[in-house]
Amino acid sequence: MAANEKTEKAVRAVLSKDPCAAGLYHDLSDGGRRKVLAMLDDRGLKSLTRLIGNAKKKNFTAAGERFIEIASGRIQTPVYLVDETLIEENMRVLRYVKDRTGCRVFHALKAYASFATFKTMSAHLDGVCASGLNEARLGYEEFGKEVHTFGAAHREEEIGQILKYSDSIIFNSFHQLEKYGERARKAGVDIGLRVNPGHAEVAEQMYNPCAPCSRLGIVSDEFTDRFPEYRGMVDGLHFHAMCEQGSDVLERILKSFEKLYGSFIRGLKWVNFGGGHHITRDDYDLERLIRTINTFRKKYGVQVHLEPGEASVYHAGVLISTVLDVVKNEMDIAIMDTSAEAHMPDVLLMPYRPAVMGSAIPGEKPYTYRLAGPSCLAGDIIGDYSFDKPLARGDRLVFADMALYSIVKNTTFNGIGLPDIAVVRQGGKVAVVRRFGYRDYRNRQS
Ligand SMILES: Cc1ncc(COP(=O)(O)O)c(C=O)c1O
Repeated sequence: MAANEKTEKAVRAVLSKDPCAAGLYHDLSDGGRRKVLAMLDDRGLKSLTRLIGNAKKKNFTAAGERFIEIASGRIQTPVYLVDETLIEENMRVLRYVKDRTGCRVFHALKAYASFATFKTMSAHLDGVCASGLNEARLGYEEFGKEVHTFGAAHREEEIGQILKYSDSIIFNSFHQLEKYGERARKAGVDIGLRVNPGHAEVAEQMYNPCAPCSRLGIVSDEFTDRFPEYRGMVDGLHFHAMCEQGSDVLERILKSFEKLYGSFIRGLKWVNFGGGHHITRDDYDLERLIRTINTFRKKYGVQVHLEPGEASVYHAGVLISTVLDVVKNEMDIAIMDTSAEAHMPDVLLMPYRPAVMGSAIPGEKPYTYRLAGPSCLAGDIIGDYSFDKPLARGDRLVFADMALYSIVKNTTFNGIGLPDIAVVRQGGKVAVVRRFGYRDYRNRQS
């Protein structure tokens, strides 16, 4: 089919609210997608947003069955199983935001760094954001696109390498800018400053970058005093103030950010809105995000950068684990071959109770169990769950939404082995891309 026919077909599908419109849109070239957007009025664009959301939801629902089927097969546990088709779905949504706004999107490696799926991601995104040398290097070598690095402070020994791998470096203080700015300039690396936008709505202080006395981001009084002196050296501003939140929160943060820093933005190249945007969640208000970015961009004449981590792999992976034993002490306790402490540390840190496929809250189904890890830590408890049938030794359980902030944060506490990493490739084939062993444990000791 000729390119023009394809775009017209996609437009017709959008206007008739045909569910296949999303697929037709995603399959177009960059130019084709741009044409479709230009041919749609406001109602048409909103309709396309809805159709893209619905198509994503449908694919994620279907994947639930796929995870359970794989878990009940011969796959060795514990294993993080990441589904490439689902990552692609999330990428399509992020790319759609790019298409509609011209913003640039960088995946945050701190959330997920399993490079076996980077090809799927780099086809849609502009690059990665890194927190320091190792992530910058991984992004440079494995993602193969732009690298944008922010660190609260950098070590003298590492800065040369960081600059070698980075397209931009975002400093957290005027001291860091003074110390490393010239070298960055000479290396042709863009320079940014992270500021505290003065507003956040993260209840848990552990995850609130704007909590009282936060070290993250220059505060506005200091910025106002000192920025004019450094104006010529700075290409962009950066803030990060969100955690798993919607575009309504971003709007309110921007209001504060503009009040504090608005007079300094014109003439810069870019403003980076950080991460924490739950863009790929079903109820996320995409239209509001698109409107917000476009308004900002037009008002100040700058590029907008986003650096979501969670959103890239949201619900795109699971952790499959086997029941090793069942013991009793006032209640039934299943000891799993996976550990909250070692393999899903946010369960204890946040804390939260991960969803287990096929389970319900305690007491809702006839058989209630506490799921716990094999370590010596008394608090290595994943949570309490109920099931339709009693759990037996050897049963497999599937913990949902485990691609993000689990693989990157796991440890070998107690000498417990790390779970395998496996990928469901597009087309359904499962590939175990990494198996860890004794050497991985030993190499972290001395
Ligand atoms: C500076 C910065 N950018 C991006 C992110 C990614 O956030 P998320 O994974 O919540 O989207 C974080 C997370 O802590 C961050 O600190």
